[in-house]
Amino acid sequence: MDFKSVGIKGLGYYVPEKVMTNFDFEKLIDTSDEWIRTRTGIEERRFAAPDQATSDLCVEASKKALENANMTIDDIDLILIATCTPDYPVQAAACLVQKKLGAKQTPCFDLNAACSGFIYGLTVAGGMIRGGVYKNILVVGAETLSRIIDMEDRNTCVLFGDGAAAAVVSEVEEGYGFLGVYLGAEGEDDDILKIPAGGTKKPNTVETIENRENFVHMKGKDVFKFAVHALPRATNKAMKIAGVTSDELKMVFPHQANIRIIEAAAKRIHAPIEKFYVNLQRFGNTSSASVGIALGEALEKGKLKKGDLIALTGFGAGLTYGSIVMKWVY
Ligand code: UT7
Repeated sequence: MDFKSVGIKGLGYYVPEKVMTNFDFEKLIDTSDEWIRTRTGIEERRFAAPDQATSDLCVEASKKALENANMTIDDIDLILIATCTPDYPVQAAACLVQKKLGAKQTPCFDLNAACSGFIYGLTVAGGMIRGGVYKNILVVGAETLSRIIDMEDRNTCVLFGDGAAAAVVSEVEEGYGFLGVYLGAEGEDDDILKIPAGGTKKPNTVETIENRENFVHMKGKDVFKFAVHALPRATNKAMKIAGVTSDELKMVFPHQANIRIIEAAAKRIHAPIEKFYVNLQRFGNTSSASVGIALGEALEKGKLKKGDLIALTGFGAGLTYGSIVMKWVY
């Protein structure tokens, strides 16, 4: 059976204007620029303005993606937002994006695979296009993590930032686009990275708020251990499916959580660290947006050209992970 070739026809990203530096955190909590930089690589991150929520970040990124794809919102058959920080617990952020972009009747849904969300979203969109369900799908990875981090918890608050990345996924020239896709999850590790309260298991009460259970709780070392095996596992599997070796990859776009995780993954993928696009120093960990923002920035800087083989690779809460190897389309 012949499969359609599916890939990214246009990509755009958006980060809010407000810059929070490590020095800003020094004024708020017991931390230091030196600790944050040496343990993570992060120097600054962006925080959304008070009147911005996730759907607003999505809209900005989506406009750029549509422009780069030479399309309008009327060409889009489905809006898929990968996020773990929607504007509201009930009502998909995708529906708000539909309204703000003026896309009447376009189907919409959100997908939550945490930091692996962009890769999961692209995979779902790719499958739908291959199956002939839709032609053009807008996939956005977007987060306003500044609203769910505990600004009194130095173990977590210095790591995250806000942002969005959008991709128009469509049928592409034969042989281009997604060549190998691999997704995975380890649901048994369910106590490592989550917001303990505010869901249906433990609705928020005065007590949960007092205990700060309405914010992200993370066992950092456990996430680290998971990440250094999940990133290479996903990438190596996707490369194998694509029939591509790490030597052939022009660049790798990893989830931007920690430079030490990326360095460890690079060794296990047998690819030089120079092939890994890293911008976490300026944006921190933007969860489902991070891989797309990295890709968008590399494109802006002219680092990619048609036909380049690249890998997107990520991991996140769940725990989830995934990778897509693709031949760049434009
Ligand atoms: O998208 C997925 C999201 N999460 C991740 O990717 C996180 C993965 N994990 C990591 O990146 C690292 O584990 C961290 C950066 C979170 C932590 O680095 P670490 O080298 O594992 O440090 P640690 O947790 O072992 O903490 C070492 C020390 C502790 O002090 P004591 O107990 O040794 O006295 C912490 O309390 O560093 C302390 N510490 C800090 N000190 C200054 C923790 N956070 C900070 C901080 N500033 N912000």
